[in-house]
Formats: sequence, C-alpha cells, structure tokens
Amino acid sequence: MYLKTFGCQMNDADSSKIKNLMSNMNIDTTSDPKDADIILLNTCSIRWKAEHKVYSMLGTFKDIKKARPDIIIGVGGCVAQQEQDEMFRKVPHLDIVFGTHNVHRLPEMISRVQAERCKVEETNFFDRPEPLVYPAPEEDGVRAFVNIIRGCNNYCTYCIVPYVRGREASRSSAEIVDEVKSLAGCGVKEVTLLGQNVNSYGNDLGGDIGFPGLLKKVADVEGITRLRFTTSHPKDLSDGLIEAFGEIENLANHLHLPVQSGSDKVLAAMKRGYTAASYMKNVEKLRKVRPDIAISTDMIVGFPGEEDSDFQKTLALMKEVVYDSAFSFKYSVRPGTAAAKLQDAVPDDLKSERLASLQSLQKKHSIVRNEAEEGTVQMVLVEGVGRKHSSFLTGRTSGNKVVNFAGADEFVGQIVPVKITGSTANALKGEVLHLN
Ligand code: 5AD
Ligand code: SF4
Repeated sequence: MYLKTFGCQMNDADSSKIKNLMSNMNIDTTSDPKDADIILLNTCSIRWKAEHKVYSMLGTFKDIKKARPDIIIGVGGCVAQQEQDEMFRKVPHLDIVFGTHNVHRLPEMISRVQAERCKVEETNFFDRPEPLVYPAPEEDGVRAFVNIIRGCNNYCTYCIVPYVRGREASRSSAEIVDEVKSLAGCGVKEVTLLGQNVNSYGNDLGGDIGFPGLLKKVADVEGITRLRFTTSHPKDLSDGLIEAFGEIENLANHLHLPVQSGSDKVLAAMKRGYTAASYMKNVEKLRKVRPDIAISTDMIVGFPGEEDSDFQKTLALMKEVVYDSAFSFKYSVRPGTAAAKLQDAVPDDLKSERLASLQSLQKKHSIVRNEAEEGTVQMVLVEGVGRKHSSFLTGRTSGNKVVNFAGADEFVGQIVPVKITGSTANALKGEVLHLN
C-alpha cells in the first residue's frame, strides 16, 4: 500500500489507524506508488491549495491504473467527505471514496472492490465515535496521537471542518485511558491528545469529566512522561485548564492557541467568540502559571473586509504576545461556509503582502524566543537521526522546539538532557549532557 496524507494532525492520526488496519490484513506500506497494489490518499480541504494538490496527485495515477487495472485507488478524508461520489465523475480511475467517519470500514471496502471490481463509496456520518481502531505509534515508537473528541460545533465562518467532520462527539474517558495505558505498555512515552477543539471535551457526555479532568487522568498513566494536546479554542480556554499547567508536571510546556486575527471586527466576522483583549488576558494568566511556556498560533490574513487598520491590530497583538511560532495562511473561500457569502474580498496581492509582513515579524519573534533558550538545559525526546548527517540527532523539547545535536542513534526514543548552545528561527542547537 502507498499512503499519502495531506493536512492536519487529525489526518495523521487517521492515517496511523489506516496503517494498523492494513497491517492486520498483512498489507505492507511502500514509499513508491508504482510498487503498490493499493494507493490511498487521506485528504484535507481546509485550504484551497490542499484540495488542489489532491486532484493533481490523483491525475498522476491515471497511467498506473491503465498499466495495472487491478490496482485499487482510494480517497478518504475531508475532500472525499465533501465531494462524495462526485469524485468518481472527476477522477474516473478511482475505486473507493471513504469519509471521515468511515476509516474503520476500509478493510471491507477493499475486499468488496477486490471481489466485485465495483466502485465503493461510504461517506455516512455516525452520531457517536466510530468503533475503536488503535493508531500505530509513530516511527520512533515512543510518540503517539490519541483522538479524544471528533468533529466541531463552532462553525467559524471561514471553516469547512464542521461540514466535513460532523458534530462533536467525545470518546469516554475510560476508553481513552485504556488506549493510553496500552500505548504506554508498548513503550510510548509522549502522548498527544487530539481534537478540533479539545476544550469541548466531555460537553456531549453529560458531565462525566471535562478536559482538565481528562488531562489529569491521562497524565497519571504510568510511563507517560510527556503529555501534549491540540487544538485549544481560545473562547473555551477555562481557568481549570490554565491551572492544569500549574498542577500537572508532565504536561508539556507548550500551548497552541490559534488567535487568527488581532482585530475585534474581524474576529466577530469570523464568529470566533472572543476579543483581542480577552485573548491577551488568558495569555497573561497562563504566563503567571508557567512563565516560560511556549505559545503558538494560527493566523489568517485577508479575511473579507480586513482593512489595513485591522491588519495592524493583528501585528500589534503579535508584538504583545511574542509567539514562539505561527502557522499563517491567506484566507481562501471554502464553498458552503458562511464567509463564502461575504462581500469585500481582499485582493490576492494584498493578502500576499500582508502574509509576508506577518511572517517576517514572526521570524523576528521566533529568533527572540529561541535565543532565550540558549544556555538552558532542555529535556529532549529524541525522534530520529538528522536528515543531513547521520551523526546528528533530532528531537523536541517540552516546549515543542526542534533541537539538533551530535549523538549516536542509540539515543533515539530516549529523553535526554541537552544544553542549548545556539538557535535559529526554526530550531535549537545543543550538546547532550552525559547521562549518569
Ligand atoms: N482560509 C485560510 N485559512 C484557513 N484555516 C481554516 N480555514 C481556512 C480558510 N478558509 C486555517 C486556520 C485554522 C488552520 C487549521 O487553518 O488558521 O486554525
Ligand atoms: Fe474550524 Fe473553528 Fe471548528 Fe477550529 S473551531 S475546526 S477553526 S470551525
């Protein structure tokens, strides 16, 4: 099987489940689609480019299918969910379209295509989380992602996610803890809890436990040295969660808190449910509890009606927070969303200009925040050997920063103390301290 994943961590986790399902069917993965009997794309439609890439990649498989008609080509994820059987019309050499709630059905879908040589589409939504499929741990064997809630009820006006991933549905805390225990039993040390908005965890479970309660339970699982989560919606960031950063020692020193814009007018048009001031208040509270916490964000420039004065407010907010890192995007219309009906589109060249100035400001901030780590000793979870030199290792600090340092591959999968000796905007450099 050749499996290509587009987009977010949610898709990475789904792909990991697909790998597990396939390995249960004795199907190995290959890195070259030409060698594969099954080609699967796990797609993303959150931004225009992501969707565009999927269709152009599918086009390149046409010749492979012509040469080997028995090959099975399938598409899942958000583009599949949105387009459903329309995809068969656009891509006639496609065999399977599976939606975001249907990953667990893939083995049956593949068997049906093999037996009947027909096209199969399953894109129905389920109200409750679908049957449990464990994801495989990451390649390093010590990190794993665990879904705790799927879907989103927020309907931010620019966003396609609620339409393609359905309404929020939380998994029971007992099931989540069992999964984490089983991962810890396989040697996993770092778990990232995943959800479009983890802060809504438990709202649909009738008062079982909320997100801070779940964090405490997972943090207590023996063997879990580091706990992360993403994504946290600023409007739902509770005092309980902020306090959790003070109380839970193995909770990583990082929070991804996407602000999107610094202008209250734009935030209201996006239906984000907070203001720049209320966001800043939470950042201050957090830094009281964890003064050196790394904070990252997502930013959208060029939302309809964004004037230069609004954009200046975004830059001003960034200067106030000084983010450790930021993912930034030009707004792209997602058909069917509320913002698709808005007037006052920002011209593309102006979006590009704003994006460039936002990114250049962020680069300065990343440099400042990374330089502040120089001279400190960071506990680094070693993820693998470096891409350029095999005598270099790469890993991440608790604050989610990449660190490169000299070392032997026996350290892969371990948490080692590293003295930070240098930095750039993108990464830290260090020296491993001797383990006693
Ligand atoms: N245009 C541009 N960026 C978007 N995002 C979501 N929808 C859009 C869109 N229509 C960005 C947001 C979100 C991140 C995952 O993708 O910043 O936080
Ligand atoms: Fe999209 Fe908003 Fe839900 Fe995030 S919270 S997935 S941006 S609708």
